[in-house]
Amino acid sequence: MTAMKPLAPGKALSHISHPVAIITVNDGKKLNGMTAAWVTQISIDPPILCVSISPKRHTWEMLKGVEFFGVSMLSKDQEGESDFFGSKSGKKVDKFKAMGIEPFMAAHDVPLLTGSVAGFVCRKTHQVEQGDHWALFGEVVEAWKGHDNVPLNFFKSGYHSW
Ligand SMILES: Cc1cc2nc3c(=O)[nH]c(=O)nc-3n(C[C@H](O)[C@H](O)[C@H](O)COP(=O)(O)O)c2cc1C
Repeated sequence: MTAMKPLAPGKALSHISHPVAIITVNDGKKLNGMTAAWVTQISIDPPILCVSISPKRHTWEMLKGVEFFGVSMLSKDQEGESDFFGSKSGKKVDKFKAMGIEPFMAAHDVPLLTGSVAGFVCRKTHQVEQGDHWALFGEVVEAWKGHDNVPLNFFKSGYHSW
């Protein structure tokens, strides 16, 4: 059996496998979205998700003024969307227009990405600062099933799918 090897705690966290999602927001003036791998379910009843967002993100600024946000769970065919929404800032670029993406407008005018495995509209319930990120909790108030496709995952700084 292979022995366990010690790792620096900061680096060790890259060994956690994550889904890849686009967190979307509509503040009434514009739409934006950012890639987030730090997304997880917290509760079944009521259904609650948690997303970890750096306060440096333009999305975080926009989220401050809204009640609802979207979470689109990407499929293995959406690496391009993940890279683009995860490298450009909505402060300078309309990422939907730049990528030629027509968003699916769900409840409360929250945009979701078609081609995703699933999409959720969440009502902000709570947020807590932890280290250099904020954990944002949201109750799922509307959910959509997308493509029957393999989800996109992120592990050790790279994309993976089943
Ligand atoms: C695969 C991947 C995963 C990411 N996960 C997160 C995350 O969980 N939380 C976060 O704050 N930023 C994450 N980012 C970085 C943001 O998506 C990126 O900074 C984005 O450009 C912010 O856009 P905005 O300024 O329009 O909000 C991730 C980027 C990539 C490529």
